[in-house]
Amino acid sequence: MIRAKKSLQDAAPYAPGRPIEEIKRNFGLSAVTKLASNENPLGTSPLAREAVLRAADKIFLYPDPDAFELRQALSAHLKTSPENLVFGTGSDGLIELICKTFLSEGDESIMPHPSFSLYELNVQSAGAVPVRVPLTDNKYYSPVDMLASITDKTRVIWLCNPNNPTGGMYTQAEQDAFLKAVPDDILVVIDEAYYEYACGEKDYPNSFETLKNHKNIIILRTFSKIYGLAGLRIGYGITHPAIAAELEKARPPFNVCLPAQEAAVAAISDSDFVSRSLKENKENKKYLEAAFDEMGLSYIKSATNFIAVDTGKDAKTVYEQLLSRGYIVKGGHVLGLPGYLRVTIGTKEECEGFVKTLKEVLKEL
Ligand SMILES: Cc1ncc(COP(=O)(O)O)c(C=O)c1O
Repeated sequence: MIRAKKSLQDAAPYAPGRPIEEIKRNFGLSAVTKLASNENPLGTSPLAREAVLRAADKIFLYPDPDAFELRQALSAHLKTSPENLVFGTGSDGLIELICKTFLSEGDESIMPHPSFSLYELNVQSAGAVPVRVPLTDNKYYSPVDMLASITDKTRVIWLCNPNNPTGGMYTQAEQDAFLKAVPDDILVVIDEAYYEYACGEKDYPNSFETLKNHKNIIILRTFSKIYGLAGLRIGYGITHPAIAAELEKARPPFNVCLPAQEAAVAAISDSDFVSRSLKENKENKKYLEAAFDEMGLSYIKSATNFIAVDTGKDAKTVYEQLLSRGYIVKGGHVLGLPGYLRVTIGTKEECEGFVKTLKEVLKEL
């Protein structure tokens, strides 16, 4: 049998949230609610949607390999220089690109655990060795916790803030203390996929400012979450131009499709959609927290658009029961969070339906 390379032989493939149509087919359901992949329950910015429709006339052409228009628009939006930006096929694509560019066989790469599982998988794909640092009580971590695992083989350290799947965040002071101590020949990846939800939280780090004093950092952000463009696959990195130039050597030239580039330009101009999304997320997060309190379930304080809740039961069973009743969430059994469910904060109606169904399921178990 032809087998995957040695570093991948024990790897588990990524476990994505199941698609709505699949669950309808499998369970004969007419209505299914997906609260599994932290997408925006309000959908897509209307301006971005119009941009995609306009782009349809141009899809026989290859996309701009340098994403010129988007680069200009995003650098103005972020108040940075165009050469500080690198674009990817989602931040997933950038995680892969970072591993492809900077990791070789035998190198080590440190990450909190549990965290976003694609760090580990891509490190393994590059032939390097993932080094897991467990979260305290499986809930929170400080980047400082990573320092003790550094060896002379360490090339890349992953920080996920807020962390997925737990939803908690670390603070500016913790990040500063870590950056002061970490050697500057190690690349630090700060994954801020949920930045727009978290940046208003007290003490959330201003990583963008930090870039001015550190040349070994890349911040990852995405258009998949608050901007509602998960289906188009577009994310970006903000970094020192020297790191961006290294990444360019391994980047597939047409990695970001033309509709994605044009939709992203429109999405950053739609501040009204972002504000509405934030407001709705805040209200429905409160609703879910109150419902969990009332049910006597503990949950991890979240700075994101999802909550990890401890069901006190076998997470796989609860997950499967919810699935058969039309609610797709993520079970802690695939996330390294035994007993927990990770639930995306949906619309009010979706959250109410989820709570009602969860109560029914837990009553029966
Ligand atoms: C922490 C984190 N990083 C990266 C990603 C990947 O996002 P994208 O859709 O930009 O590839 C996700 C998606 O859920 C995430 O939670």
